[in-house]
Amino acid sequence: MRGKVIVVYESKYGNTKRAAKAIIEGINEVASIETSLKELKEVNLKDVADYDAILIGSPNHLGGPTRGIKGFIDELGKLQLKGKMFAVFDTYLGKDFEKAVKKMEERINEKIPGMKQIASGLSIKVRGMKGPIVDGELPKCREFGKKIATQLKSG
Ligand SMILES: Cc1cc2nc3c(=O)[nH]c(=O)nc-3n(C[C@H](O)[C@H](O)[C@H](O)COP(=O)(O)O)c2cc1C
Repeated sequence: MRGKVIVVYESKYGNTKRAAKAIIEGINEVASIETSLKELKEVNLKDVADYDAILIGSPNHLGGPTRGIKGFIDELGKLQLKGKMFAVFDTYLGKDFEKAVKKMEERINEKIPGMKQIASGLSIKVRGMKGPIVDGELPKCREFGKKIATQLKSG
């Protein structure tokens, strides 16, 4: 079993943070996996390499991840993360389903070669700029967490 997961997110209004927490709840339902939840500004970059799986969450800002998350992915590219696993999630409004997750996945594949995707990106809808998360979306976060934990257990 490969056991440590870090979830790094940005969240202007708290919705992406709520999604991140629900993902961790899902992980903990499946297995006693060590998890760490960090807002981007409190992450110590070099500690990230201690984890087996890195989950990255961003609100959709102007059709993609935040500038901070893009920069974080670029910084991760300077670490030795070959063989580590990743998955991404976003929150969005309106019609931008999966737009930010696709961009994060592309950027990770480009900037951090050798990382393995553990689950396809999760895109969570919010009702307005400040939220709240649309009904029925949080259970998807828990399912996403469960899927990741199951993969880690078998890996
Ligand atoms: C500067 C800014 C730009 C945004 N642009 C988009 C956008 O292009 N597409 C979209 O679906 N949502 C957009 N949104 C809405 C955000 O996705 C929404 O505020 C976010 O999901 C809420 O997450 P948070 O509470 O974690 O900040 C934008 C929000 C902000 C603040």
